Amino acid sequence: MTKIDLSRKIEVPEWVRGLTKPSRIGEGHLERQWEEIGDEVMQKVKEVLPTGKYTLGPHLKKFEEDFAAYSDSKFAIGISSGTKALHIALEAMGLGPGDEAITVCNTYVTTAFAVSYCGATPVFVDVDPKTYNMTAELVEAKITPKTKAIIPVHLYGHVVDMDPLMALAKKHNLWVLEDASHAHGGYYKGRRVGSLGHAAAFSFYPSKNMGAYGDGGIITTSDQELYEKIKMLRYVGQRVKFIHEVIGFQDRLDELQAAMMSVKLKNLDDWNNRRRKIAAIYDEILKDTPLQLPYVADYCHHVYYSYATITPSEEERKKLLMFMNEHEIGAFAMYPIMVPMQQAYEDLGYKESDFPVGSEYAKRVFNLPMFETLREDEAREVARTILAYYDQV
Ligand SMILES: Cc1ncc(COP(=O)(O)O)c(C=O)c1O
Repeated sequence: MTKIDLSRKIEVPEWVRGLTKPSRIGEGHLERQWEEIGDEVMQKVKEVLPTGKYTLGPHLKKFEEDFAAYSDSKFAIGISSGTKALHIALEAMGLGPGDEAITVCNTYVTTAFAVSYCGATPVFVDVDPKTYNMTAELVEAKITPKTKAIIPVHLYGHVVDMDPLMALAKKHNLWVLEDASHAHGGYYKGRRVGSLGHAAAFSFYPSKNMGAYGDGGIITTSDQELYEKIKMLRYVGQRVKFIHEVIGFQDRLDELQAAMMSVKLKNLDDWNNRRRKIAAIYDEILKDTPLQLPYVADYCHHVYYSYATITPSEEERKKLLMFMNEHEIGAFAMYPIMVPMQQAYEDLGYKESDFPVGSEYAKRVFNLPMFETLREDEAREVARTILAYYDQV
């Protein structure tokens, strides 16, 4: 049972309270996207709604086939959210009480919650200072006889160095589940994200590189047995209707979402290229500032879910965030509190000093507006506003 203490005081950081102006640049991602593809999406709505078939129909099947092919995988299974995609994949891998799964300290909280939903324990590792991602060395130091799975997160769209991680997993007989929620369409040494581990979970949260019109997610795998188990788990533990072999879930991706997402899948590579162009503009204009800019390893085709820089100090991040807000630019900090430092996980007893890189970056990460419908002139204005900040200090 989850104990909830509503009397507990919540500290809102000073800089969050200080952000008072609405953003002029950094808003409107999905409204602009709708202008580009809305007519085609409405066509899909008109195709699906009159059929009366709203779950597990032909549009979901086709979208799953297309997404699997796009992801260099044999199978894709549409799920109701990215969180449930992680959870169901881990259940299918057999994660349960007494088991541990290793993931990073600097991710969205549900990467770890998915482990907890299985009754297992998340074990957090620090990250590489350049890629912001886990490495095989960091993971190896945390492997115990209880370890059953590793969950690499392709943070901000930079793909994890997967070959050493897969070799480590093989040596210790561990499952690898990619959390691919930031990296739809990314590549590692020419291979697509989604095909790099034993399975991958993607979020289709609306703001992602490829988002649904609401919540959604998908799991990719090339493992036939895992595929059968995941399909069973997403739909109340059935293979045959009314025969419930295990306690499964009710977590399908809707037929309507799948049909609408098929329009987005066609655009994904183009949209990612636009994100990469915006990143190149930021890289060029900001190269002589004190900000640490995103690094791109030679094995990685980065898809920039976010453009995450590191400021020289916590104080400077606060000032920069306030300055950008003053100029009505929607800069932000993602993620400002590491998952092991969240109250939800205080029982695990982690300290900030367990994560020398992650704890610094949580205080200093500074994310700039990034989405495929951001205009190049807007990106230039964002970067020049940062130059103006540094001219004044
Ligand atoms: C890294 C990561 N993992 C998991 C999730 C969870 O996905 P969803 O919001 O679709 O449940 C997200 C989404 O925000 C994410 O960014």
